[in-house]
Amino acid sequence: MTTDSRTEPTAAEIPYRKVRMIRRNLDGIPQFGWPEGFCSRRFADGDMDVWVSTISTDRHVQADRALFVREFGEDSRRIAERMFFVVSPDGKVVGTATAWEDRDDHGVTVGRVHWVFLLPEYHGRGLAKPLLTETLNLIGRLGHPRCYLVTQLTRIPAINLYLKFGFVPEIRTAEDKDNWKLLSPHISHPAIRDLG
Ligand SMILES: CC(C)(COP(=O)(O)OP(=O)(O)OC[C@H]1O[C@@H](n2cnc3c(N)ncnc32)[C@H](O)[C@@H]1OP(=O)(O)O)[C@@H](O)C(=O)NCCC(=O)NCCS
Repeated sequence: MTTDSRTEPTAAEIPYRKVRMIRRNLDGIPQFGWPEGFCSRRFADGDMDVWVSTISTDRHVQADRALFVREFGEDSRRIAERMFFVVSPDGKVVGTATAWEDRDDHGVTVGRVHWVFLLPEYHGRGLAKPLLTETLNLIGRLGHPRCYLVTQLTRIPAINLYLKFGFVPEIRTAEDKDNWKLLSPHISHPAIRDLG
């Protein structure tokens, strides 16, 4: 089985459980450009609903304005500095990601890759990598020493993507380790395979 095995595990095999991945520094961020015609733009006034409708296509998430405010607050200048939208050649928003920050991650202010999302019909079109490149480049420019993200074990495509961008599973407890080991039949990257 390869790192990028396209097997889709069933819910019985893998629980929808939160896990964290970390990138210990912002060095060597893989650089990918947008496919022809696609570009990104920053959050602007009125985009809260654009974010909500983009995220709403995920069956696991109940997205609404309250979720947006819980996740990002209401300081639109801060959000505009950090939130991206992916725009298709015909001007439609087809994805988003945010170069967020956590002001108290074990006492340190660090970057956080937050709410990476592409509309399902735009998967497999070379958009995920440039989106993550832009997000991590910005986290680096904002001066964060390291960054993390939270995902769910079932999100194998996303986890593969993050592994390619230098994130590794964060393992602080035996339970963390057991969680990540559940992925070893599905992901052969050394960061998971070597968990035993
Ligand atoms: C995660 C997501 C942004 C990836 O976008 P995508 O268009 O599907 O990804 P791409 O086809 O561009 O592939 C990028 C990398 O992701 C991984 N990947 C993508 N689809 C995969 C699949 N079905 N199985 C395993 N790995 C996969 C691969 O590592 C791939 O790299 P490669 O092209 O060198 O093989 C997208 O699937 C998505 O929005 N999913 C729903 C929301 C989500 O899970 N967000 C993350 C929350 S933390």
